[in-house]
Amino acid sequence: MSAVALVVAAGRGERLGYPGPKAFVMCGGRPMLEWSIDALKAVPEIGHIVVATPPGVEPPAGTSGVFGGQERSHSVRAALHHTLAGDPVLVHDAARPLVTPEIIRAVLAGLDDAADGAIAASREADTLKREAPGGGDGPNGPATVAETVRRDGLWAVQTPQVFRREILSRALDQPHDVVAGATDDASLVEGLGGTVRLVECPRENFKVTTPDDLRLADLILRSRSR
Ligand code: C5P
Repeated sequence: MSAVALVVAAGRGERLGYPGPKAFVMCGGRPMLEWSIDALKAVPEIGHIVVATPPGVEPPAGTSGVFGGQERSHSVRAALHHTLAGDPVLVHDAARPLVTPEIIRAVLAGLDDAADGAIAASREADTLKREAPGGGDGPNGPATVAETVRRDGLWAVQTPQVFRREILSRALDQPHDVVAGATDDASLVEGLGGTVRLVECPRENFKVTTPDDLRLADLILRSRSR
């Protein structure tokens, strides 16, 4: 059976300072979502693409649309329930328009027989600090360092993430608050005892969150198409 790709595109662009859904903001000359759809369509192992969109927004040509949910994981669950066909299941954030067919194929290949999932990730390059409680931008003033966290063995996680359908389905069918609190799908699969492989991918596959990210993604995408 071929793989199915679920693309979550139902989030709002609040941190981007954009009033509409982030996945549809223009980036590299076209709506951000379309870059990921093109990359997925270029991978023969993927038989079908389902896109979780905000209500009232049409999915891209050649994909099926489903309305997303309140939290990201609810959007993934809605997209998974939309189609019973396709195993393994690949989940991708529309907010990562710099994904390439090579990255997608590497993550699919990372799902070996003994694994339940495989995820794109890059080794942590920066020195990491944990802040002391009570700091930040609030009334207590600037954040203060409590400790330096050793970065050896730490990875920054991206999408795509690929899972066997059965375990992803069980992971997403856990109680509402467990699912709502997850920042990625792999953590839910790990919570069920699943084995998840890390597939080293370029840091360039970053998530567009802030206006600076959008500017950088726009520049890279325009330079790629030259
Ligand atoms: O908000 P954040 O950047 O973490 O969202 C990651 C991805 O999840 C984005 O592509 C966004 O469109 C999607 N999302 C969604 N449904 C939500 C929240 C986020 O499809 N309720």
